[in-house]
Amino acid sequence: MYKFGKINSYEGILDLKKIVKDVDIEEMEEALNICDLSVLAKKYKTWLKHMPRVKPYYAVKCNDDAVVVKELAKLGTGFDCASKNEIKLALEAGANPEEIIFANPCKPASHLQYAKEKKIMTSTVDTEFEIYKIFEHYPESNLVIRFRCEAKVAQCPLGDKFGCDAEEDAAALMLLAKSLGLAVIGTSFHVGSGCSDYPAYNRAIATAKSLFKFGQLLGFEMKIMDIGGGFPGADDSKFATVSEIVSASLDKYFPDDDVEIIAEPGRFFVASAYTLVCKIHAKREIRSGKKADLKMYYINDGVYGSLNCVLYDHQKVTVEHFLDDDDNLKKFKSLIWGPTCDALDKIIEETYLPNLSCGDLVAFPNMGAYTVPIASPFNGFLVPKTLYFKSV
Ligand SMILES: Cc1ncc(COP(=O)(O)O)c(C=O)c1O
Repeated sequence: MYKFGKINSYEGILDLKKIVKDVDIEEMEEALNICDLSVLAKKYKTWLKHMPRVKPYYAVKCNDDAVVVKELAKLGTGFDCASKNEIKLALEAGANPEEIIFANPCKPASHLQYAKEKKIMTSTVDTEFEIYKIFEHYPESNLVIRFRCEAKVAQCPLGDKFGCDAEEDAAALMLLAKSLGLAVIGTSFHVGSGCSDYPAYNRAIATAKSLFKFGQLLGFEMKIMDIGGGFPGADDSKFATVSEIVSASLDKYFPDDDVEIIAEPGRFFVASAYTLVCKIHAKREIRSGKKADLKMYYINDGVYGSLNCVLYDHQKVTVEHFLDDDDNLKKFKSLIWGPTCDALDKIIEETYLPNLSCGDLVAFPNMGAYTVPIASPFNGFLVPKTLYFKSV
């Protein structure tokens, strides 16, 4: 049968119903993640088809499962690492140090020393303090200046925390680097994770072009333009739209091949690779008179576990059931709670489901991004186990 800790193979289409039937999920305390590693290869192919000029450096923070990171390393992505441990993970997965960018603009000095030891040559910076820190601990490092260019709408905006002002500060930072003898080799930005203002990429690439000109005037060899993350996870038609905007913008502002264009996609690669299967262990009905107005289900994972994406990543998760003949089943207004004693542990406020019972299973698709690495076993409820699959 299926093995935990190993990659299980399948032919044709991954049959979720069969898997949950075969796994003794009734006996399992924790929820089950079903990870289809073949999705990663499909996504990589999609990326190359739409943006062949842009090399993806997978943002490890998004899902740091070693099996996932290894699979991406085999496919040939680079890696965006935010810490010493992420660098270690990427290297252990087989990544080449030259294909790792240390893309956390605020780095503890010990992590910077580790990057130096491991010959991670490129780091992003967005303040003078970080430039002085790099001067002190790793002056051989190449610098990429991260500037702020926010999408008007994004699931998780990042601009309050990172990115220098492109007009006021970026030039000053480059001048400071020059005066300290450090090498600036490019620029980066992040429009915000889960961006839905796609022209933001165009605005940012135009800004990068001006900064490239200034860097070149200072005598820097400007050779890396990093367009960050923010790409859609599960919806490839939206990705096609974003990539059209990015590609047109690159043709306009960076037509020559002498600049390497990289990106730091996280969600894009992993969101649709995971489906989370949970078990209902308790139920409550809110009634007015004899009528049940609302059915409430309590399941074995919640916002303190891998469904933390509801809180931190502002994800609107969707739920599916496993009963047969869905079209003919009456649906009821339902609310889904996580297992802990905290009322904040609410997964879906309102959805419509058939009348489910304790012991029934429900599935949440597209659960690979910003879920697993953040999950905690609060209240003693274990985080999900993962079964890996790959098509042959
Ligand atoms: C520096 C950096 N790069 C890349 C990413 C990945 O973003 P996304 O998952 O939206 O592609 C993040 C996400 O927070 C980030 O902070």
